[in-house]
Amino acid sequence: GSNHSGSPKLGTKRLPQALIVGVKKGGTRAVLEFIRVHPDVRALGTEPHFFDRNYGRGLDWYRWSNVQPGLRKTSLRSLMPRTLESQITLEKTPSYFVTQEAPRRIFNMSRDTKLIVVVRNPVTRAISDYTQTLSKKPDIPTFEGLSFRNRTLGLVDVSWNAIRIGMYVLHLESWLQYFPLAQIHFVSGERLITDPAGEMGRVQDFLGIKRFITDKHFYFNKTKGFPCLKKTESSLLPRCLGKSKGRTHVQIDPEVIDQLREFYRPYNIKFYETVGQDFRWE
Ligand code: A3P
Repeated sequence: GSNHSGSPKLGTKRLPQALIVGVKKGGTRAVLEFIRVHPDVRALGTEPHFFDRNYGRGLDWYRWSNVQPGLRKTSLRSLMPRTLESQITLEKTPSYFVTQEAPRRIFNMSRDTKLIVVVRNPVTRAISDYTQTLSKKPDIPTFEGLSFRNRTLGLVDVSWNAIRIGMYVLHLESWLQYFPLAQIHFVSGERLITDPAGEMGRVQDFLGIKRFITDKHFYFNKTKGFPCLKKTESSLLPRCLGKSKGRTHVQIDPEVIDQLREFYRPYNIKFYETVGQDFRWE
C-alpha cells in the first residue's frame, strides 16, 4: 500500500492522541484532509461520534470496531487506523465541542488528549449551517424566521442550534473545567482559507510534529474559490474538498446579519479574552 505505515496490516490500533472537536461548518474537513497529508499523522476519514452518540459502546469499540458509524454494513475498514509508535492518531467529530459530557469523557480517556477547534465568524457559521440544512430539507422556515423569538424586540433564539453553536465562549467554559488552555488549539477558519500553510504550520507545532505541510502543498483553485491540495497521501493528483464544502450561501436580510453581529459581539469579545487571541470578527 502507499500509506505511511507501509502495509496497512502493520502498526497498532491506538486511541486518538488528538481530536478535532469542532466547530461544525468551521472548516473541520479542510483541517483533517490537510493534516492527514503528514507522514506522522493517521486520521479517521469518517466522524465516529464516539463521545456523543456512541459512548455507551465503550472504548474498546472506539478502538477496535469494524462497524463504521452511519453505515449499515460492516466495513472492511476498522474504526481506528493502525499507527506506528511515532505516529499520531486523529479523528474529527465537530459535535463534540457542543456536547456537555464530551470534555469529561475525553479527559477520562486521556487527560493528555490534544484538542483542536476550528472557529469561524459565528454569523457566517450560522448561515453556512442553515444552508447545509436547507440543502437536505428544503421545507424549513427562513433563516430570518428561525433566528428570532421576537424579531422586533431583537430577541435571538438561542435554543436554535445554528445560533447556539456560535456562542463559543459558553461551550469553551465546559472544556476549561477539564483541560488547560495550552492543550486546546484554535484554528481560524478565515485564515485557513487565506493562508492554509500558515494555519497548518501552527497546527503541526501544536501537535509537536515537524513542519512537513507547507505552502508547497497548496494551490488556489480559482473555479472552486478555495485552496486545494496539490497531491494527497493516496494520490499524486490535485484534490479539492467536495461540493458540500464551499457552498454558495443563502442570501440573508442585511438587517438580520447586523442584529446577529450585535448579538454575538459580547460572546466574541469574551472568547478572545479567554483564549488570548483576536479572531477579528468584529
Ligand atoms: P461553506 O460551505 O459555508 O463555505 P466543515 O468542514 O467544518 O463542515 O466546514 C465547511 C467549511 O469549510 C466551508 O463552509 C468552507 O467555507 C470552509 N473551508 C475552509 N477551507 C476550505 C477549503 N480549502 N475548501 C473548501 N472549503 C473550505
